[in-house]
Amino acid sequence: MTAVGIDAVEVWTGKLSLDLAETFAPEQGDDPAKYTKGLGLRESSFPDAHEDIVTMGANAAHRLMERKSLTPEDVGRIDVATESAFDNSKPVSTYIAGCLEQVYDGDFHHANKGERKFACIAGTQSLDDACNWIRAGRNRGRGALVIASDTALYERGDAGEATQGAGAVAMWVTEDPALVELSVEQGYGSADETDFLKPNQQFPSVDGKRSIQVYLARMREALEDFESVAGDVGPDDYAYAPFHTPYPGMVRKAALLAYRHTTRGTDVEDALAEDIGRQPRREAFDDESAFEDAVSDYTDALKERSEYREWYDARIEPTLAISERVGNWYTGSVHLARLSALHHAAANGRDLAGEKLLVASYGSGAQAEVHAETVRDGWREEVDALSIFDRVESRYDLSFAEYERVHDRHNHAKQAELDAFTTPEDEFVFDGWGPMNERTYRYVE
Ligand code: CAA
Repeated sequence: MTAVGIDAVEVWTGKLSLDLAETFAPEQGDDPAKYTKGLGLRESSFPDAHEDIVTMGANAAHRLMERKSLTPEDVGRIDVATESAFDNSKPVSTYIAGCLEQVYDGDFHHANKGERKFACIAGTQSLDDACNWIRAGRNRGRGALVIASDTALYERGDAGEATQGAGAVAMWVTEDPALVELSVEQGYGSADETDFLKPNQQFPSVDGKRSIQVYLARMREALEDFESVAGDVGPDDYAYAPFHTPYPGMVRKAALLAYRHTTRGTDVEDALAEDIGRQPRREAFDDESAFEDAVSDYTDALKERSEYREWYDARIEPTLAISERVGNWYTGSVHLARLSALHHAAANGRDLAGEKLLVASYGSGAQAEVHAETVRDGWREEVDALSIFDRVESRYDLSFAEYERVHDRHNHAKQAELDAFTTPEDEFVFDGWGPMNERTYRYVE
């Protein structure tokens, strides 16, 4: 079968930045280390006054089309994943296509457009849909634009306010891709959960502590399901493992469980046994809580071992570099983690072609998905073409009072007036409302 996957990626970060340790923590009466060490976050991205999920998605897609010299004729699908939609009928992809038609000759009338919703996992589901469309031979030589765009805002005063973010990732999905090929094998962990939801409301209702446990439980199921089809996963089988990253501290928890799981019954477990014992086996315990306590003790000991630390530093930590600077981008988050890993390999002169990534997505409500990706020969050129860290550096640094006004601006119930902090240039901007209450956009040169 022809390889199918991601040929190229572009990213658009919200143009404003909130420093969590310096600006946010003091206003909350928090120790800055809660953010930098506990959650693992330095800054969050926010949309400027003229930005929203459409502008960020259209700007990422436009940049991608320009770099790859694509025309509307090349695009057979526009799939948008978001959990920040403002319209229950008209999909964001139509707004984005409308924006792009302002700057290209031709149109996207031939392109199938849709919008995927399943919390943060919808970006991966859209990617999967696009790959399946190509694998089924229905693409007529065209590729798919897959765009994950979100403004991850929480109610003021909610604990989730520490983990906000805003931005879009646009992916060009094709046959014979330059960046990564996606495996056909996938694993799922899916259950009806109420860890995080937005029942006809803009800001989420979140059970924060429970959401962490649900993430871990579904992720474990997805990994086991993946192994049932792809074979057992060893700790060193994958160059990097990008996880959905609501904040880096969440990935630290997931990585430790993944390491424990993948070293079980291996030489690594044997080598560690002398110092920390063997992993507890359920069948050796009559009592469930005694078993759980033993697992917890073993995991605490494992966390301190150099074997684990070296594995984590090599395969997980590099996936967090963008997220710690921009916060949670919901549907785009795991795709930033993949990019961080590839960026790390490029910065360290590593030849990654042919190596594999284990990609682990999660969406509240709740579902996890695990699949493998094989890095393609053209990866380095694609990664070198990205300037994500330059764009992160060039964001406008908000004071706390400015942050409060930005939050009010993007609060649908308030829609407060706000002058932009940055000057739009070569980008789509939000321009007001049309006669049917639709949002309107224009391109600023
Ligand atoms: N120095 C070092 N570490 C510190 C510290 C300090 N001074 N103060 C606190 N910490 C640590 C805490 O020990 C904790 O780490 P552990 O979890 O490892 O114990 C961490 O910093 C966070 O501190 P708290 O638990 O006290 O923080 P909180 O009560 O404000 O809540 C949260 C944290 C639950 C993640 C909250 O921010 C939240 O609800 N976020 C939104 C929900 C979310 O992101 N859930 C993740 C899974 S769901 C998902 O992934 C989907 C999605 O995208 C939303």
